[in-house]
Amino acid sequence: MRILGIESSCDEAAAAVVEDGRRVLAERVASQADAFAAWGGVVPEIAARAHVEAMPGVIAAALADAGITPRDLDGVAVGAWPGLTGSLVCGVTAAKAIALSLDLPLMAVDHVQAHLAAIHLGRDTVTYPLVGLAASGGHSHLFRCRGPGDLDLLGGTIDDAAGEAFDKGAAVLGLPYPGGPELDRLAEDGDPGAIPLPRSFMGDADLRMSFAGLKTAFLYAVRGQGGRGPAPTDPRRIADAAASLRAAVVDQLVDRLLLAARREEVRAVAVAGGVACNRLLRRRLAESCRTAGLDLYLPEPRHCADNAAMIAVLGHHHLRAGRTTGRDLVPLPTGRAGPRA
Ligand code: KG4
Ligand code: ZN
Repeated sequence: MRILGIESSCDEAAAAVVEDGRRVLAERVASQADAFAAWGGVVPEIAARAHVEAMPGVIAAALADAGITPRDLDGVAVGAWPGLTGSLVCGVTAAKAIALSLDLPLMAVDHVQAHLAAIHLGRDTVTYPLVGLAASGGHSHLFRCRGPGDLDLLGGTIDDAAGEAFDKGAAVLGLPYPGGPELDRLAEDGDPGAIPLPRSFMGDADLRMSFAGLKTAFLYAVRGQGGRGPAPTDPRRIADAAASLRAAVVDQLVDRLLLAARREEVRAVAVAGGVACNRLLRRRLAESCRTAGLDLYLPEPRHCADNAAMIAVLGHHHLRAGRTTGRDLVPLPTGRAGPRA
């Protein structure tokens, strides 16, 4: 079964063809991240217009790379929530046009659930149940997963997402948007103990996380009380600050994930979402899962960040389960899987 996946929830217009819910035949992505460096973040109106421009070319290129025509597809899956409304509308409209013109099934996919479904890419079997952590720019949530798209929310952040803490921390250090990956790179040479920072709720019995207080503590530590001082320029100070923030975020994520795994009595965990690209997080997960005797499903970095292959994987499972959507599909900015569902 070949599914075309379309993703446009934020500043990436992406398309992928995935066979049998695990083999990527082709994937293409047009990122607007560079364009938003000058703005310090995503400007929704500009992202939506850029998607409208890029999407047809991205889809055509993915199909050409896969060596197929739209007639060889078995269905079209699209990330329909959560995300920026204008951006989502572009992907949803493109998916509808293809599905309608070829009378193909259309599958609406939850972006957060799709991040966790990415663990199926390039893998023949995944053993469920497992505890999944979706950590991105908008989410840091723990789920009990019985299968792709079949999950219950266990807990997560009560305020900001981990990716938000990385991006804002990077801005405090004067790094351009999107700062998370750059902060991660600089942290490799820093001392994680240089700045003492809070780890909210660690050791607590509840599956809660918080990154808002950490963000403020970091701002004051780096830019002085009130946070009005200049960004540091000394490379050693920048690296030490980056390493300190990264360690505080990663400590919380790993601690909560292991607690959830113990409590749910699962033998495997999965971590996905853009933050799962983080090098320290990947190293720490490998170590701690080995020690705890847990299997770790961690997609390769390009399938942790926003991508269309993960949308096609979940679309494949929706189609197999008969969960297709009507032609009247409307994207939902707030989504259904997170705490605001
Ligand atoms: O999943 P994603 O690509 O988009 C959303 O669904 O939000 O996640 C983007 C987030 C951003 O906050 C970005 O800074 C963060 O993932 N991120 C990282 C790294 N790569 C991406 N954070 C820390 N370290 C990284 N290497
Ligand atoms: Zn995402």
